[in-house]
Amino acid sequence: MHIIPIASGKGGVGKSLIAANLSIALGQAGKRVCLADLDLGGSNLHLILGTPSPSRGIGTYLSAPNSSFEEIVSETDYENLFFIPGDAEIPGIANLQAGQRNRIVRRLMGLEMDYLILDLGAGTNFNILDFFLMSNKGIIITTPTPTATVNAYLFLKNIAFRQITMAVKKDSAAADFLDRLKRDGTALQRVYIPKLLEHIKSADQDTYTAYLGRAARFHPRLILNMLENPDDTEKANKLRRSCQQYLDIDMEHLGIIYRDDLQDTALRSRLPIILYKPQSVLAQAIYRIADKIIQSEDSAEDADGADVLVDLDESYQNAESEASSDFEAKLGYLEELMQAGALTMGDLIETVKTQQIEINHLKKENRFLKSKILKSVP
Ligand SMILES: Nc1ncnc2c1ncn2[C@@H]1O[C@H](COP(=O)(O)OP(=O)(O)O)[C@@H](O)[C@H]1O
Ligand SMILES: [Mg+2]
Repeated sequence: MHIIPIASGKGGVGKSLIAANLSIALGQAGKRVCLADLDLGGSNLHLILGTPSPSRGIGTYLSAPNSSFEEIVSETDYENLFFIPGDAEIPGIANLQAGQRNRIVRRLMGLEMDYLILDLGAGTNFNILDFFLMSNKGIIITTPTPTATVNAYLFLKNIAFRQITMAVKKDSAAADFLDRLKRDGTALQRVYIPKLLEHIKSADQDTYTAYLGRAARFHPRLILNMLENPDDTEKANKLRRSCQQYLDIDMEHLGIIYRDDLQDTALRSRLPIILYKPQSVLAQAIYRIADKIIQSEDSAEDADGADVLVDLDESYQNAESEASSDFEAKLGYLEELMQAGALTMGDLIETVKTQQIEINHLKKENRFLKSKILKSVP
């Protein structure tokens, strides 16, 4: 079973939307898929799936000691897709104890599916990190905004630190070193992972080797969501460089997805976008990602389950060309709307007006920066 956790540092970047539609796409491709809502405390996947409000989920399973896990795995109206709801309405459910978390992990691992997709909550608490580390091929979602990319980076930094902690043998010199570090909050905040690894290497070779083994198997993947224009792809390149340089982690780029206003209409009609408008740029971007995932699993199987190395540089180049071709498709779609009369002159005038305001704002900012630069040059 291929486990694909979907995480982000920041909330509202599209995890649930992508988890739901990706699961449906994989199901349509003939794979048996289970989608689990692990955003405990904030679970809303059933809304995106358009399924009725669930009566049982992870929360009810944990609170009723004798209930069976199978009972919360329900069939859906979608081809080959099973769903495990989360239960947002049980207070405190987001604060799982380690034992509860392990129980869920074991149960999930025991499912017999081709794919298990995990929709996680935002942030970096241990539950989220450990759900993410159920697989070596988790997906990180970010949007191009600085807050989202910084939080994606911080999420991965927490993952790197967690992996180091997990590699550490009890009572070893490395364990001692980490304990001291954890007690000193500011040192922990400033921790530079490559430096930390150097310390561990000299203090404790066994831990270091164990960590290297983990790191070599770890292949996180990135999706850049809610693009506005092709230049936004640069944000993914930047994030990749920071992760390479400061965390020793290199991510594959799984693809870009533009912001698509149709999503709001799809949500209102309680239909996943992939069914509401399969030809939309958004739905097509999700199909493209599903294809890449299936392809990479297929080739991994060819190689006898061994890791097949994706050309990471190429994955970023592909994302860039996706960004320009999808942009053209979006413009084409606007033209169509105009011709069909679905987009009124009023809509267009409104858009031009807001853009004008934005341009004026940018001009002002530009002038301000220029004057600052001129003043600082002696
Ligand atoms: N590419 C997109 N285009 C338009 N709307 C989007 C896109 N991705 C996400 N959204 C919308 O953004 C909001 C947040 O998405 P959601 O999947 O709930 O984020 P998360 O699960 O990360 O908190 C939702 O209203 C969703 O419909
Ligand atoms: Mg969500």
